[in-house]
Amino acid sequence: MAEKVDMSGRNVIVTGARPHSLGYETARILASWGASVVATSRRHVAQAEKFLKDDLREIGVEENNIVVRPLDLCDVDSVNDFAAWYRESYGGKLHVLVNNAGILKDILKPWKKSPLTEDGFEIHWRTNYLGAFHLTGLLLPLLKQSGLESGDARIVNVSSHLHDQGKNEDLFNDEKTYNPLRAYGRSKLAMIHFSREIERRFAEEYNLHSMAVHPGSVDTNMTRVEIPEGRIGNLWNRITSSLAPLIMLHRTHGAQTIVMCASQPSLQGGKYYVRCKAEEPTDESKDEAASKRLWNQSEAWVETLVKPEGGKHGQI
Ligand SMILES: NC(=O)c1ccc[n+]([C@@H]2O[C@H](COP(=O)([O-])OP(=O)(O)OC[C@H]3O[C@@H](n4cnc5c(N)ncnc54)[C@H](OP(=O)(O)O)[C@@H]3O)[C@@H](O)[C@H]2O)c1
Repeated sequence: MAEKVDMSGRNVIVTGARPHSLGYETARILASWGASVVATSRRHVAQAEKFLKDDLREIGVEENNIVVRPLDLCDVDSVNDFAAWYRESYGGKLHVLVNNAGILKDILKPWKKSPLTEDGFEIHWRTNYLGAFHLTGLLLPLLKQSGLESGDARIVNVSSHLHDQGKNEDLFNDEKTYNPLRAYGRSKLAMIHFSREIERRFAEEYNLHSMAVHPGSVDTNMTRVEIPEGRIGNLWNRITSSLAPLIMLHRTHGAQTIVMCASQPSLQGGKYYVRCKAEEPTDESKDEAASKRLWNQSEAWVETLVKPEGGKHGQI
């Protein structure tokens, strides 16, 4: 378990905090430790905010420690609006950004071709990595400034052990045949490169560190494959909801490594954390040339998203 840290005076953003998710638990714990938390959701904003405030009130913590805002990482305007709102509302101070939001598309479905976002990227790539890269870029000036002023700012990137499904050459090229697990793995490999590159670029000068996390196999909305109501649906959903807690971590436990990386003082940046300890990620993810190349290419991709008339982005 993460050791409790006094987070008062720390401003935190946690993306992807719908109820029953890792983001929800992370936001709840950090707010209960005194942080001022802005959590985000794409489709469950009011519900997440109500539940989170109820949870805080129940344990006697100021409910205004938390607000939930809409954010769709696949929508350039939504990311821009969120970042602009944050800058105005929090006086330019941001100590911790937790890039947690993510998706895993139906892995049992026989996909004939890559599911694409409206702007033409493979959907895991766009949601799990590129959207986070775009958001982080907009918030970087605040994180750097807060790192300089407070001596400690963080970007926590939620990756996965499935990053081992990704290969560096796939970061830049279309895959011949589509496999959602590999596409997911590739996006999670990119999150580790992203953390390592943030650390390399900003740790020394700005006290801005980044950690990548595998939270474990956790019982969340993502891992609950529910099928629609009906006799079979009800039976399946009953069976899976009784089995899930036996084979997966509870969300409160799954969130511990994310919470630790967001809070524990003097934690080493540029590392990959699992079960609250640094572990070695794959060799691919430690290839510095690939991390640098990915950063440069991602800046170019974001540029084409922000100014689409600039031409096609050329990925996937
Ligand atoms: N659960 C596991 O076993 C496991 C294992 C390894 C890694 N992870 C990683 O942990 C992170 C959290 O996953 P979870 O298990 O908590 O899943 P979850 O319960 O499905 O929550 C995912 C969150 O991401 C948000 N999201 C999805 N697409 C988005 C988009 N386009 N823009 C903004 N937000 C978006 C969802 O939005 P809404 O609020 O609208 O629903 C939701 O709040 C993910 O990055 C996942 O890959 C999970």
